[in-house]
Amino acid sequence: MKLLRTLKRVAAAGAVILAAVSLQPTTAFAAAPPVVGGTRAAQGEFPFMVRLSMGCGGSLLTQQIVLTAAHCVSGSGNNTSITATAGVVDLQSASAIRVRSTKVLQAPGYNGTGKDWALIKLAQPINLPTLKIAEDASYDNGDFQIAGWGAAREGGAQQRYLLKATVPFVSDADCQRAYPELVGEEEICAGLPRGGVDTCQGDSGGPMFRRDNAGQWIQVGIVSWGYGCARPNYPGVYAEVSHFAAEIKASAATL
Ligand code: ARG
Repeated sequence: MKLLRTLKRVAAAGAVILAAVSLQPTTAFAAAPPVVGGTRAAQGEFPFMVRLSMGCGGSLLTQQIVLTAAHCVSGSGNNTSITATAGVVDLQSASAIRVRSTKVLQAPGYNGTGKDWALIKLAQPINLPTLKIAEDASYDNGDFQIAGWGAAREGGAQQRYLLKATVPFVSDADCQRAYPELVGEEEICAGLPRGGVDTCQGDSGGPMFRRDNAGQWIQVGIVSWGYGCARPNYPGVYAEVSHFAAEIKASAATL
């Protein structure tokens, strides 16, 4: 737990550290699929997925605003240092769309616990489908989709190809058994009791999502933290998007 908190802090203080993790060609794909316990996403399957240059994931809230994790950025203000890559599952694809940031808005009051959301404004809009966010708790249940270019196993390398997996909802009460420090109002957990499937380092900021009643993808979580990756009885912890939806929308309107 202590190590984990330290890792979170390192990521918050200097997302640069994560950027230093190189995107290796995945010769090891067959042995170690991305996310943990995942499979390759098809080109265009999750068009709203974004890879951020500091080594995090994100999603298109609008065509010009990326929703990510607060611990992936280091404060709010003008910021042209982040590059968003979109439109591809292969980060090395020649058809990747790359756009720089102009501004960052970190969740007001973020102090390393809970409130793990942030917005990044892009220099130009990206003409791709966006991912709508859950505005109430009605979708905070069931099976969720996770996706990212992060490590395929605890301590593993960042991935070249987008990986995806499905994880079930875990109640706050069950999640608190693993993590007494869980902020139940602001965090939502997901994972299998036996472990084996999870997000991992480098997936942070990316979306956890599901189908809504109309069959559309809807975002319920933002990859935040966990004890290791995919360990039995230690679910992944995600920012609870529905809790922050109104604030996220209002903030986006000011960017
Ligand atoms: N904090 C990590 C990151 O910066 C995400 C860890 C997610 N861990 C987990 N077991 N679900 O990429």
